[in-house]
Amino acid sequence: MPEARPIVIIGSANMDLVLRTPRIPAPGETILGENFVNIPGGKGANQAVAAAKLARPGTQVHMVARVGDDDFGQRLLTSITAYGVHTRHVTVTEGIATGVAMILVDRKGENSIVVAPGANAKLSPADVDAAEGMIATASVVVMQLEVPLETVAHTIAICQQHGVFTILDPAPVPPKMPRALYGVDVLTPNQREAERLLGINPQVNVVPKRAEDPKLIGSRLLSRGSRSVVLKRGNRGAVLIGRDGEIRTVKGFNIKVVDTTAAGDAFTAALAVAHAEGMELPEAVRFANAAGAIACQSFGAQPGLPGREAVDQLMGERARGGQ
Ligand code: RIB
Repeated sequence: MPEARPIVIIGSANMDLVLRTPRIPAPGETILGENFVNIPGGKGANQAVAAAKLARPGTQVHMVARVGDDDFGQRLLTSITAYGVHTRHVTVTEGIATGVAMILVDRKGENSIVVAPGANAKLSPADVDAAEGMIATASVVVMQLEVPLETVAHTIAICQQHGVFTILDPAPVPPKMPRALYGVDVLTPNQREAERLLGINPQVNVVPKRAEDPKLIGSRLLSRGSRSVVLKRGNRGAVLIGRDGEIRTVKGFNIKVVDTTAAGDAFTAALAVAHAEGMELPEAVRFANAAGAIACQSFGAQPGLPGREAVDQLMGERARGGQ
């Protein structure tokens, strides 16, 4: 059997400093939280771990990233390696701290996150060039936006040069999204991110009624240049806008939410694994919905990411009419 092509994730690795809280406090308010823990995270590392847990044996998952020369960096490297992610292209950067994310998780499982990028901000186009040989052989390259935008733009250009399939999770949404970043095969924002990309800020502007329609939002984003858009909508599933402009809604799963942290990362990684296995986009989105749903059932980013068996089981239950 020919060797499977690798899946490559280019992006961030953070130590998550997580505090459970009865609710997210209002500005200027102090409240008492519950337990505080450090958990390996970072959108890039979460996606790499999720892909490694979901991929069939024989598919290598590689990460291109930077961590600092500190204890958090070592712990992140140990953790992602233990999950089976290849770290040959993860560079330990001297004299700089590993990225950290301050995360509050409320009783409904909703979170709010602020990231201090640290070493992630040093991930450079040269780091991507150093991995070009591997990228050229990849079935899919996945990116997010916790690393410099020029590095992401450079990665997209390299992938286009080699004809490699690309997925961009546009999170966090930058103040101004460079046009080149839309040049991917699949863009995977959630609804809020999609609205921000389109310049609709619900907290500041009045959202025109028509713009709230996920199908319309997705179509408007598609016109910016991505070959397809998959709008993540949590337990409401996803809206898929294909390259021909065709729109499909893919049903979500009803599950008990413990913590939504990294659910979007599980979704994006599952999409990549499904593409690597040759699934068509609608089927890949069903698989991704199941992965995202399971990720919500446990606390913390990487420990809560689902394995293949759990996703196949949930999909099987749906097929038998159980969901
Ligand atoms: O998507 C969840 C992730 O966002 C967290 O693990 C945190 O590190 C931030 O990057």
